[in-house]
Amino acid sequence: MKKLRCVPITEPWQVELMRCIYNENLEWLSTHTLPYRTYEDQQEWWQKNSRQVKAFLYEPFDKPGKFVAFLLLRIRDGFCTPTIALQREEWGSGYGQEIVHDYIEKADGPIAGTQLQNNEAICHINKKVGWQILGETGEGDKRIDLLYHPGINELNKCSEGTFLKILEYLDIDPSTFDFSKVNI
Ligand SMILES: CC(C)(COP(=O)(O)OP(=O)(O)OC[C@H]1O[C@@H](n2cnc3c(N)ncnc32)[C@H](O)[C@@H]1OP(=O)(O)O)[C@@H](O)C(=O)NCCC(=O)NCCS
Repeated sequence: MKKLRCVPITEPWQVELMRCIYNENLEWLSTHTLPYRTYEDQQEWWQKNSRQVKAFLYEPFDKPGKFVAFLLLRIRDGFCTPTIALQREEWGSGYGQEIVHDYIEKADGPIAGTQLQNNEAICHINKKVGWQILGETGEGDKRIDLLYHPGINELNKCSEGTFLKILEYLDIDPSTFDFSKVNI
């Protein structure tokens, strides 16, 4: 990475910084309604989830001590799902794109996710880095694309079984899915 240093989250103060960035971005972060989290909620959530996730903060090289973004990579059955968010004042900085490249490397294999169709910045970045749209769902402002990325590790390619699990995770019916439109 050229602009950002990545720091694994292990300590309560880092969990708290992640909470602040998360709360600032709630409306963009998900396709379903996410709760505002208090300090206690977030620490409790971390206690329950820290074993199934890898989480990181990002600090610009030219702004030491300022943590501008987080990545949460949830480890699932043969694939990962990422969540990223930046402090609002840092939107448009190019950091988002660096973080997306970073999580594709860190995932080290297939990835699944969703994007809000009206989140133009993330849709643009995701297209550039090779996310494929498998389907769409939702209504109005909450219309979302269901996404798959094969990963960049040639030695950890997506098996048929894992792809079926990704379809299940995205709530896509395999019996009606057109497998010819995806590059597994
Ligand atoms: C999405 C997010 C991570 C992007 O980070 P960022 O640092 O602002 O993004 P970058 O500056 O790296 O890149 C933005 C890209 O989108 C493009 N873009 C921005 N607004 C756009 C628009 N309205 N239409 C098309 N492209 C747009 C930019 O031109 C840039 O692409 P380029 O480098 O090819 O020119 C950040 O806005 C954010 O944290 N949003 C809230 C949380 C979120 O949406 N998370 C993603 C869901 S998990």
